[in-house]
Amino acid sequence: MKVVCGNWKMFKTQPEAKAWARSFTEAPLPATGDVKVRIYASFTSIATLADALGKSGVSVGGQNLHPADDGAFTGEVSARMLLDAGAESVLVGHSERRHVFGETDEFLADKVRSALNAGLHTVFCVGETLDEREAGTTHEVLTRQVERGLARLSAADLDRVELAYEPVWAIGTGKVAEVEQVRDAHQFLHEQLRTRYGRTVPVLYGGSVKPSNALEILSTPGVDGVLVGGASLQPGDFLEVVRAAEKTA
Ligand code: PGA
Repeated sequence: MKVVCGNWKMFKTQPEAKAWARSFTEAPLPATGDVKVRIYASFTSIATLADALGKSGVSVGGQNLHPADDGAFTGEVSARMLLDAGAESVLVGHSERRHVFGETDEFLADKVRSALNAGLHTVFCVGETLDEREAGTTHEVLTRQVERGLARLSAADLDRVELAYEPVWAIGTGKVAEVEQVRDAHQFLHEQLRTRYGRTVPVLYGGSVKPSNALEILSTPGVDGVLVGGASLQPGDFLEVVRAAEKTA
């Protein structure tokens, strides 16, 4: 089984999301047992996209949430609101949330807990910056992010969690991590989880994944799927990534 996720970031209005869904679902999609497909859309498009995707088997997620159930948090959206809009999953700890918006490991741990409590599946994102990689601290950074971010979870909670390994220097830059770097990071994360919880979860790779490199990345040991940014915006490109996942599922 492979997982293919699209992260639309701050792109697409409702009509654009609808047009994407129409085009993407024209082609026959893989049986959901082989490849799971999800799109993480902006808050304003979630309900429209979920409706447009209907029974296609493609599910919809949010890109962020606030950990509180409700309250005086202007501009924020809770897990319950995401579910209500039709989201089944949520991204937590994407590098843009960590580095552009300054979200801390502790705040992210609260978000993961809140998402799971509400019944949302969660993709928890981790990854080192270029400085951290060059300083040789990649494993240290991944250990810290996993330990702190998942600090409030039990082994049973992991049924509804996936990790995404996204080296910050490979996101939106066109620079893909080398196969050896991907394999090392994924195996390290799987080991971390086994040591800590006695089990592991799917670990997705993200960072400049596109049709031309998807097959190689998806064939790398320890890679259970991909989180695709830029190349998920065009339905044709994203479909090619899904086809690559089918071949390796
Ligand atoms: P990218 O983004 O594929 O455009 O590099 C990946 C991500 O940010 O999840």
